[in-house]
Amino acid sequence: MSLLSLTPMLAEARRGGYAVGAFNPVDYASMKAIVEAAEELNAPVIIQTSAKTVIYYSHETLAGWFRELAADSPVPIALHLDHGKDLEMIKKCIETGWTSVMIDASDHPFEENLARSRQVVAWASAAGVGVEAELGEIVGVEEDIVVAEEDAHLADPDKAERFCRELDLGVFAPAIGTAHGYYKGEPDVRFDLIEEIFRRTQIPLALHGGTGLPDETIQRCIKLGCAKVNISTNLKHAFIDGFSDYHRDNPHDYEPLRVLKGQYDTMKELMKAKIRQFGGAGKAADVEISTS
Ligand code: 13P
Repeated sequence: MSLLSLTPMLAEARRGGYAVGAFNPVDYASMKAIVEAAEELNAPVIIQTSAKTVIYYSHETLAGWFRELAADSPVPIALHLDHGKDLEMIKKCIETGWTSVMIDASDHPFEENLARSRQVVAWASAAGVGVEAELGEIVGVEEDIVVAEEDAHLADPDKAERFCRELDLGVFAPAIGTAHGYYKGEPDVRFDLIEEIFRRTQIPLALHGGTGLPDETIQRCIKLGCAKVNISTNLKHAFIDGFSDYHRDNPHDYEPLRVLKGQYDTMKELMKAKIRQFGGAGKAADVEISTS
């Protein structure tokens, strides 16, 4: 049990009434911190790489880190591509060791979104790789993808039903009112839409824009059908603040490995808190039983 597609992982999360944390690493240490947080809590976890991170380090480097860190892990771990827009990049992820990929063609008209997503499902299912696809457009900034408020739109339940019927998805990402990045005001999460979409599709839902959502909102979303909660901005802040807070508190310590340890511990504690909050702690064995 270790490298796993998110499809069985999230099916089990739905059965167990919890969500799996999906975190965006920015370097080797943050990927290691995700793995260690999950291992210390005996939880399943999703490492999701933003497309920008794949371009920065290369497919081979990230897949190599993942294999090294996760191949012998006692807990189930998925390597997922977050918001893949470039079909060639997605294809290469499937070929180089990602266990699941997201195709985000949500900025295209419905039929084009469906056609691109269908192409990715065909490649992925031939390789035993899981797929996430998006409908509607989630507002905010996710790496290089910027969706302005006037361009964002929520997923339509009729279209969502057809989209999911025609695609074999492990997880579905409808826009339901959350946003990438910190919220400027009170998030306007459409619980009614989550409920209706999950009732009509029965596909585990991804909750994008997890940073800054109140706990009661997250718990309600999990109850209504969300099985994957995405956290990126929080982790970026822990990466920067973990380093700079250590230096602020220890201004004369110029031993880099101690500074890096301060940064690492800040990231790991953040992810442990999130995994506990989403209900994933202690669930690794349940995934193992359900997949064996
Ligand atoms: P945040 O940056 O708001 O945590 O959102 C992450 C996300 O949804 C990645 O797809």
